Amino acid sequence: MCGIVGAVAQRDVAEILIEGLRRLEYRGYDSAGVAIVNGEGQLHRLRELGKVQALADALAAQPLSGGTGIAHTRWATHGEPSQRNAHPHVSDDIVVVHNGIIENYERLRSEMQAKGYHFSSDTDTEVIAHLVHYHRQHTDSLLSAVQATLKALRGAYGTVVMDARDPELLVVARSGSPLVIGLGVGENFIASDQLALLPVTRRFLYLEEGDVAEVTRREVRVFDAQGVSVERSELQSDVMHDAGDKGEYRHHMLKEIHQQPKAITDTLEGRLTDSGVVVEAFGNSARGIFEKVEHIQLIACGTSYHAGMVARYWFEALAGVACDIDIASEFRYRKSVMRPNSLIITLSQSGETADTLAALRLAKELGFMSSLAICNVASSSLVRESELAFMTRAGAEIGVASTKAFTTQLAALLMLVMAMGRCRNTMSAETELELLQALRALPGHLAETLGLADQIEMLAEDFVEKQHSLFLGRGEQYPIAMEGALKLKEISYIHAEAYAAGELKHGPLALIDAEMPIIVIAPDNDLLEKLKSNIEEVRARGGILYVFADRAADFNSAANMQVLPVPHVPAAIAPIVYTLPLQLLSYYVALIKGTDVDQPRNLAKSVTVE
Ligand code: G6P
Repeated sequence: MCGIVGAVAQRDVAEILIEGLRRLEYRGYDSAGVAIVNGEGQLHRLRELGKVQALADALAAQPLSGGTGIAHTRWATHGEPSQRNAHPHVSDDIVVVHNGIIENYERLRSEMQAKGYHFSSDTDTEVIAHLVHYHRQHTDSLLSAVQATLKALRGAYGTVVMDARDPELLVVARSGSPLVIGLGVGENFIASDQLALLPVTRRFLYLEEGDVAEVTRREVRVFDAQGVSVERSELQSDVMHDAGDKGEYRHHMLKEIHQQPKAITDTLEGRLTDSGVVVEAFGNSARGIFEKVEHIQLIACGTSYHAGMVARYWFEALAGVACDIDIASEFRYRKSVMRPNSLIITLSQSGETADTLAALRLAKELGFMSSLAICNVASSSLVRESELAFMTRAGAEIGVASTKAFTTQLAALLMLVMAMGRCRNTMSAETELELLQALRALPGHLAETLGLADQIEMLAEDFVEKQHSLFLGRGEQYPIAMEGALKLKEISYIHAEAYAAGELKHGPLALIDAEMPIIVIAPDNDLLEKLKSNIEEVRARGGILYVFADRAADFNSAANMQVLPVPHVPAAIAPIVYTLPLQLLSYYVALIKGTDVDQPRNLAKSVTVE
């Protein structure tokens, strides 16, 4: 989703801004722009539709020099992707970039038009530029003008404002959209994600909700929502500088698929004992909370939602605790009935997904017993606003289609199920030990499963000309079928649907013909015989099947049915293991189709708007 980079320095900042934008490309965007002010207060702006490279080319042809600047990658919400809608937006000397959505922008737009302001874009953002310009006439500083503007805004924003008449100052504000300030020596920076600034600093201040800050070369002054001067603690980033590199791999997604054994090893590290899970890994007060839990409400979006769906099967079957799951955007607008001693668990790789955050805030208002975030970003809003937190250690995930963030979430959730079972006395020591052994063996099983890559690459050829596909699974493999279908949709643009295999005869059988490949997830578990019957239902109707099956189960390729043998693994970890072949399948189909694997069209990595 939209990305922001800003800098105020003595040196020329154009290159820093462009490099920052490149590092945010993975988040998804459709246009990019930059504005720079030099010491004489001259303002120059460049905006391009398409990739950051187009902006870099434009800059090379028409270099901008100056020590203060802001840059942006836009993911269209209001107004089509176009040069005129790209940020920064200007109102005379005032320049603005903005992430988020201003919900009352139509009213504000009319009010500003009535005051004589002319709008040159269809965006909601432009009202901020004009409002700041208007207030700047009646206030003594850019800070006061921004504060006055914020009072009128409804919605979500992370915004940076520059005034060409005050060329060594940036004013930033955050409400519902993340912003971080990078601290340099005699220079300071701003970004919507610390990753953008790693080449220039590792020291960061994280702004909190409602904060407004004045950033100059030498100073950062932060004010809270009430305008009171506040200190925000400085944190050192531990994200690797090269986190954004593809290394030997052709795409970030392929690298991230192959990083999964390591990512899971890291996520387990220090959290397992000889007999189970370290309960305190979920927070110092976790034990007391888990002992009381009678109900779990899981909340997530996208791929994280699929992880939650798997966990629901686990919580009920393995830890005997009632569990519901909702898509965050549904939960926040439906009237749910509160259960006694209910724990809300949010799942998110980014920790900034607008709907998930809103659902968490609602849950707190509703009086849930406690909240736990399972997240990949320690400094994220979700983690900061939850009572308990458990960090997945997937490392930076750059590919928009989530891979290692998903499987590390599943590993984290399985550990949580064990901790919950132990604290509530609902899991036998024998089951706990089995799960422990399964988790310890997981990285090895994943590494072995990645060995299927060549076979899957060949299989991918069969899918390239297809328009539709069907993924089938049962039990906790049903959400994995959903995740497999989502991956294929996201990066190869082939329509893919997932069905619980038992539902086949209630509709999807009507779609079966030789043009519709059907992918079946068939681990060796209690439901295997039932699944085999479902497979026969498809074969009898001429469907073409691709079955990812446990190599110990009795499956053989036959006419119209190709079997891919997956290593034999304990049932509990099978959802994690079977995810990998499906990720590889979508990757190779997309590769052959030539789509933009790491930045699929219209999608964003971190969805910070509703
Ligand atoms: C976007 C991403 C998905 C992700 C979803 C939820 O749609 O493209 O990969 O699953 O957001 O994001 P979260 O950060 O909350 O897990």
